[in-house]
Amino acid sequence: MAERWTPDSWRQKPVQQVPQYPDAAELANVEKTLAGFPPLVFAGEARKLKRALGKVAAGEAFLLQGGDCAESFEEHSADNIRDFFRLFLQMAVVLTFAGSSPVVKVGRVAGQFAKPRSANTETINGVELPSYRGDIINDIAFTPEARIPDPRRQLMAYRQSAATLNLIRAFATGGYANLDNAHRWMLGFVSGSNQSGRYRELAERITETLDFMRAIGIDPERHPETRTTDFYTSHEALLLGYEQAMTRVDSTTGDWYDTSGHMIWIGDRTRQHDHAHLEFCRGIRNPIGMKCGPSLKPDELVRLIDILNPANEPGRLTLIARFGADKVFDHLPALVRAVKREGRDVLWSCDPMHGNTIKASSGYKTRPFDMILSEVKAFFAVHNAEGTHAGGIHLEMTGKNVTECTGGARSISDIDLSDRYHTACDPRLNAEQALEMAFLVAELIKKERQAKGRPEVEAAE
Ligand code: PEP
Ligand code: CO
Repeated sequence: MAERWTPDSWRQKPVQQVPQYPDAAELANVEKTLAGFPPLVFAGEARKLKRALGKVAAGEAFLLQGGDCAESFEEHSADNIRDFFRLFLQMAVVLTFAGSSPVVKVGRVAGQFAKPRSANTETINGVELPSYRGDIINDIAFTPEARIPDPRRQLMAYRQSAATLNLIRAFATGGYANLDNAHRWMLGFVSGSNQSGRYRELAERITETLDFMRAIGIDPERHPETRTTDFYTSHEALLLGYEQAMTRVDSTTGDWYDTSGHMIWIGDRTRQHDHAHLEFCRGIRNPIGMKCGPSLKPDELVRLIDILNPANEPGRLTLIARFGADKVFDHLPALVRAVKREGRDVLWSCDPMHGNTIKASSGYKTRPFDMILSEVKAFFAVHNAEGTHAGGIHLEMTGKNVTECTGGARSISDIDLSDRYHTACDPRLNAEQALEMAFLVAELIKKERQAKGRPEVEAAE
């Protein structure tokens, strides 16, 4: 792979999951327009995230990545963004405080619009139409017109991403994320639950800690860490024409960055080493994620790492394991060992969502909370056994009170799914389930720390 890279060199390679646009001239026009638009994120921010992820890879922090499976044009309100953001802050506080670990926060947000599909068509009541591929490509309505890929949707996705990011930046730095507000982040509909009690206790401890700091003369107001938070965006870099249009040279370093999001990832269906998605991603300097599913073999993984991170730069590559609860032990140990044997610096994260999707008896696509948790536990167990760091978690979740995943403390059942099933694609954890997951993951982080700390204590005695 020593061939010259350019932002469009991917166009010479085979490509999976591309929409067939009927009007090539219109598509080219849209891509040209996008290429003239301002960047959504800045190269310096992407570099800062890469440094933070490097710390995670070194075992010094934890990555929380999450958000919608697919953002939609229809559900673009300030309330949605705020509810998502405050849930995210709550989860981060739980992981930081209960897990005693710094947390790097990366949303699946402000650009998560394009979806890979297992089948090119979808059949309902005997009618077969092209599959929905995300709002950036076509419309979810089940009509022939709606399913035609429309390039102008890319302009809408860009503008929605800009507006979402604008609000998130304001929340992250304008006072909302101040730790003094921790007790106000609780979402109304969660307030009667077990999780809310646990969270409230934790928020009280934070308030006490801040008061203590003030009492001994440390003014938290003068420490930006307590007043603001670093929050980053990410999405799957699936629609390469859009990603190319957003790719710019950074004037400080002369390097190429994809300015559509801080971090982008390669999906499990598009990670062929000689195909277009690998070609595009190898040339940009953002932090990159790659999904690792059951079909990935250890030697292929090492080959992909060679392409994506030839300089072995810490924080550059996050490997996102997504096998399914019952397959983790069959696949993950061999991959972890191969990476370790080759001395590659990677961050291992766990996506416990995409390998655990089942069809409920009611016909809805769902994910049982217990299967999700069981994949997370297996992920931690493998890393504990291999002596590597279980570095992060990648969730599909929403701040809304939906009923899409079964189980959790409120025991959502198959029959409940129809109550509030709103996702544009895969089933998400609702706010209460996501918070519960954060508490459970915090326990696992704490255990990992204790297990790693013990030999040092013994050696000191
Ligand atoms: C996703 O993250 O939404 C997704 C499609 O994941 P995967 O590539 O792992 O199937
Ligand atoms: Co999904």
